Amino acid sequence: MIDITQLHSYLDGLVPERPAEMHDMELYAQEKKFPIIGPAAGYYCYQSARLIGARRIFELGSGYGYSTAWFARAVQENGGGVVQHVVWDETLSHMAREHLTKLGFADLIQYQVGEAIQTLRQTEGPFDLIFNDIDKEGYPASLPVIRAKLRPGGMLIVDNMFYDGRVFDKTNKEESVEGIREFTRLITNDPAWISTIVPIRDGLMVAYKQ
Ligand SMILES: C[S@@+](CC[C@H](N)C(=O)[O-])C[C@H]1O[C@@H](n2cnc3c(N)ncnc32)[C@H](O)[C@@H]1O
Repeated sequence: MIDITQLHSYLDGLVPERPAEMHDMELYAQEKKFPIIGPAAGYYCYQSARLIGARRIFELGSGYGYSTAWFARAVQENGGGVVQHVVWDETLSHMAREHLTKLGFADLIQYQVGEAIQTLRQTEGPFDLIFNDIDKEGYPASLPVIRAKLRPGGMLIVDNMFYDGRVFDKTNKEESVEGIREFTRLITNDPAWISTIVPIRDGLMVAYKQ
């Protein structure tokens, strides 16, 4: 049997060296127990964005910009473009701006403070890649909006598909857990998507829009 903690630190340990600013962001998450995607999932997001040559990325639920930094790096290396940083908390948006400016991504990021699904609805698409990390009860309602804003051949990545194992516990009927289950049912049964849960960290739904 594989020990999950050992697996996570093994995968994190394979991620190449990154700027000190990103290490500081990881440390902050550990100290404050702020849920960032972490190195292995972040690197996978970066790799995916590089693979599809993404130049236009929209993030729902960006926090203080850790996941944004991985996407911004990909967009910069893909030749430039835009990453939409969206969170409903002004303080987090401000923190993100400071980190991402220090990392050299100032000209790539657009900051929006507001509810993420509503913001996506009001933002002009299409996007090459959309990343979703909002409150989990919002996942089902996000799907039709995401589908409308993603280009054909675009990629969707959604975090927390396992939710620390809570989705496997049939007695757990919390709204957040039910939100993840419903979202999983919707996307895996919709022929518009080719989708797989990649079991990195807390489970990333990775889906291709046909
Ligand atoms: C899991 S954290 C984001 C972590 C970030 N993606 C990272 O990995 O660095 C989610 C953030 O989005 C915010 N959030 C949750 N639901 C939201 C929504 N519907 N609209 C806007 N922000 C939301 C939360 O308050 C929190 O700051």
